[in-house]
Amino acid sequence: MKVAAIGKLIGVVAAMGIATVAHAHGDVTPQVVDTHELKQLGADWLGVNPYRDNKKAIQIGSSAFNQNCARCHGLEAVSGGIAPDLRKLDLDPDTDVYFRDSVRRGKIRNGVTYMPPFEGVLNQEAIWAIKSYLESRRSSLQ
Ligand code: HEC
Repeated sequence: MKVAAIGKLIGVVAAMGIATVAHAHGDVTPQVVDTHELKQLGADWLGVNPYRDNKKAIQIGSSAFNQNCARCHGLEAVSGGIAPDLRKLDLDPDTDVYFRDSVRRGKIRNGVTYMPPFEGVLNQEAIWAIKSYLESRRSSLQ
């Protein structure tokens, strides 16, 4: 096994440890997000974030992120190194599609779940709200 692979494995085990700790506080179950205050987007998945810079979306995305993603990606999106720092994602349509599909499908390779799929838990509105929140956090990068 390559060193990088071992490092990744340690990261996953660490993430699982954190998940267990989080479970003790009862916030490990994926949380449904109330998005009714946002413009509704319909059934077809968009390829570009429709809520970029939308204050309401950023607010909803902040709470959705902290409930569903922070245990691995870090509180307020400041990664502790277990999972990628999502403030660093580029602002372009390709990245929007990559983000959307990463969240829907999760990250599963060779039977190992690095990140669970959120399809069926988070709707399109919630996923774009989280993306908008992460974009708002870019300014906190050095
Ligand atoms: C159980 C831990 C865990 C949770 C919960 C989690 N992720 Fe992840 N996520 C990861 C890991 C680990 C990776 C890196 C996977 C890999 O190595 O391919 C990742 C990768 C990603 C990527 C790709 C990043 C890149 O730079 O390629 C995105 C986007 C992402 N996660 C978004 C989210 C969002 C949004 C949420 C909440 C809705 C979330 N994740 C919840 C662990 C998690």
